[in-house]
Amino acid sequence: MKTVESIAKSLSGKKIILRLDLNVPLNKQKITDTNRIDKIIPTLDFLVNNKAKILILSHVGRPKGKVVKELSMEPVCEYLKNKLNQKIRLIKANLNNLKEKDLFDNKNESILMLENLRFYNEEEENNEEFAKILASFGDLYVNDAFSCSHRKHASVFSITKYLPSYAGIQLMSEITALNKITKDITRPITCIIGGSKISTKINVIKNLISRFDNLIFVGGMANNILKSKKVQIGKSIFEENCDHVVEEIFNLSKKKNCKIIYPVDVSVSKKIDGKGNIKKISGVQKDDLILDIGPETLKIISKTIEGSKTVLWNGPAGYFENENFKKGSLEIAKKIVEKNKKNEIYSVAGGGDTVAALNSFNLTQHFNFVSTAGGAFLEFLEGKDLPGIKALY
Ligand code: 3PG
Repeated sequence: MKTVESIAKSLSGKKIILRLDLNVPLNKQKITDTNRIDKIIPTLDFLVNNKAKILILSHVGRPKGKVVKELSMEPVCEYLKNKLNQKIRLIKANLNNLKEKDLFDNKNESILMLENLRFYNEEEENNEEFAKILASFGDLYVNDAFSCSHRKHASVFSITKYLPSYAGIQLMSEITALNKITKDITRPITCIIGGSKISTKINVIKNLISRFDNLIFVGGMANNILKSKKVQIGKSIFEENCDHVVEEIFNLSKKKNCKIIYPVDVSVSKKIDGKGNIKKISGVQKDDLILDIGPETLKIISKTIEGSKTVLWNGPAGYFENENFKKGSLEIAKKIVEKNKKNEIYSVAGGGDTVAALNSFNLTQHFNFVSTAGGAFLEFLEGKDLPGIKALY
């Protein structure tokens, strides 16, 4: 894959079509989490410092080919302007009527942004003509949107046929980090999986279990294991009809020599906004809700992390949104950070809830890599080829 950094010296004066994933959560046109925008600042700084002209392409939400005012790129553009302290013009004109000369006509403008690409059906349809139009606006294309690279869309996939195409800085760092937990692993490696839907993670587990030394189940994921082992989980969250999935995981773990760890004690409550009560797993009552892991389980997890050189964490250990049930996730994070600070572990975390938990603990910056990608992160871990990345080879 050719990287944009490798052509730094020839970027001066070039018009770069830069695909980013600025798909941030919006509430009444206000950004509620700026993570994805903040992450991309080094890429923009790099291009500006190398005197390139930039046309930013992105989508927000799923407007399904219609102009939806609430999903305009406007708040993103405003935020970026303030962050970079630089003018950024948002182009709202219909792309079918737009010409390259209309874009970079002002010598003082070096960054432009197109309106939400998903206002056009052609984007998700991967329409060739649409891709050609996008390509006609610049001299070269850079994909710095790892989290969109699982989508075979015009601005991610077909556009690469019409312009010299390069991998962006963030995309490369995401791939390097994910390779360190899937291919170039320093072992022992431990994977901590939480979240509620075991069926969404089964393919990741299947793909990587032969490379994992330890697989730790926490959160709703652990409830599925407990339930299939006929342990009482009360009113706790679990996924229906997944006993066969759990069985498959245990069979595979035996075959592939991967140790499976799941809670031996938990913190329960009668309601989600209640206080915690520590119980051995055998003591959970019919009306209990399991909302966190218990201290004995934490000890086991902590010891496992201590003995690991690589860790992948996807899914919190409990309902961290309630102070009373954040201990499990917080202590796991702290243990990883402690090892990280001593340079004894390589740590990757991913998934919306895990990132939110780490942000709320203020520990994100102490992980080697924290992925803000959702679907793309999982598909990469499943061993699938991501079309947007394949197109760059
Ligand atoms: C994401 O949020 O994972 C990406 O922006 C892709 O969005 P999508 O799932 O709507 O394609």
